[in-house]
Amino acid sequence: MSDSNGFEDLVVETPGVDFRVHRSVFTDERYLEREKKTIFTNGWLYVGHASEVRNPGDFITRTIVGERLIMCRDTGGELRVFFNSCRHRGALVCREPSGNTARFRCLYHAWTYRNSGELVAVAERASFPEGFSLEDNGLESPRFEVYRDFVFLTFGADASPLQDYLAPVLPYLDSIVDQSLTGDMEVLMGSHLYRMGGNWKLIVENSLDGYHGFAVHQTYFKYLAGRGYDLDGGLEGVGLSLGNGHAMLRYKAPFGRSVARPWPAMSEQARQRVETIASELVDKHGEEKADLITKTSKNILIYPNLLIIDAASLQIRILDPIAVDHTDVSAWCLAPVGEEEELRQHRIQGYLEFLGPGGFATPDDNEVIEACQEGYGQVRGIEWSIVSKGMGKEVPSMTDEEQMRGFWRQWQHDVAGTNEAAAVTGGRQG
Ligand code: FES
Ligand SMILES: [Fe+2]
Repeated sequence: MSDSNGFEDLVVETPGVDFRVHRSVFTDERYLEREKKTIFTNGWLYVGHASEVRNPGDFITRTIVGERLIMCRDTGGELRVFFNSCRHRGALVCREPSGNTARFRCLYHAWTYRNSGELVAVAERASFPEGFSLEDNGLESPRFEVYRDFVFLTFGADASPLQDYLAPVLPYLDSIVDQSLTGDMEVLMGSHLYRMGGNWKLIVENSLDGYHGFAVHQTYFKYLAGRGYDLDGGLEGVGLSLGNGHAMLRYKAPFGRSVARPWPAMSEQARQRVETIASELVDKHGEEKADLITKTSKNILIYPNLLIIDAASLQIRILDPIAVDHTDVSAWCLAPVGEEEELRQHRIQGYLEFLGPGGFATPDDNEVIEACQEGYGQVRGIEWSIVSKGMGKEVPSMTDEEQMRGFWRQWQHDVAGTNEAAAVTGGRQG
């Protein structure tokens, strides 16, 4: 490699001919440190869904790329995001994963904050110097913005507005939210948190990889066939690089969908309800948009680390890089508010069967990711991975790799930026 700062020429493209990724990007700690200073500082990172803090006083805590955060709804009903760290000496002010409270009380010396962030009680306050004020020492917030209940933050001062960042992927994000006739979606109670033995970018690739489906997930497809699903059509679709690093698979699949395609085992009543929802969505949005909402499966990457998988069920998945070779994956099931009981049960079943960590797919994918990570550690002679499938095609299919190339182009652009603080602001690739 010839490079000027060590972060260039890690992704090499000869248009229409060749596309390679240097394998050190999955194994070298330097690149994770660089990603933290560029992509994970200046990009917009998903925090949570507003439905997770629906009522005044509700809170959740999250860790995002090492930062400990609180997302809550204050007593006045306003959504807030705070750094979970006491202004005094830094202890976590909230140590529960979720709950409801009017105040956060630090366990170390009992400084107490309202759920709107103000510091309201300091033990032995008179002992502090004259200039010390409660007003100046409330909980601190990162910059955050909300799009249709999806809450994102950025640690970079210069990031473009959230909607500009999301612009190329908004029609697809809208098509997820619009599964609900009222536009009101909710994260279902419970979540999965599991650790995968691979670099976070391997999981990005795997989540957008239509090429491995039948090779790796045979058991699942046999199971579906045994339950009466018609798999003859296989998986047909396209892989799309949307811009700003966002990418997706868009495809027709045999999975049941509670907004259009009944499951084989579904009751007649539920079947009719699915059909009614589908026709109401056509009335509301028109044929073309309704088709995207109801009949189209989607694996969407919102760059860099949020995945929305709308396939056998609907999943929000975030990837938190905890080491160069380990990633924490957090996942939730998303559903329209007020969904009928039987449809909800099918949604949860589809989620657990395919997308959950104990389902038919995720353990298989974990094996594959660990095998790649191990392969990179042991095959010293092979420096480059090949990501060229479908290059030169006018319309790359979902089993090609254009969607991954979109991710990699943005990744290379961001990590190679000469100014860490400005690497992904203002000049993002379209
Ligand atoms: S660290 Fe929180 S009160 Fe001292
Ligand atoms: Fe998979």
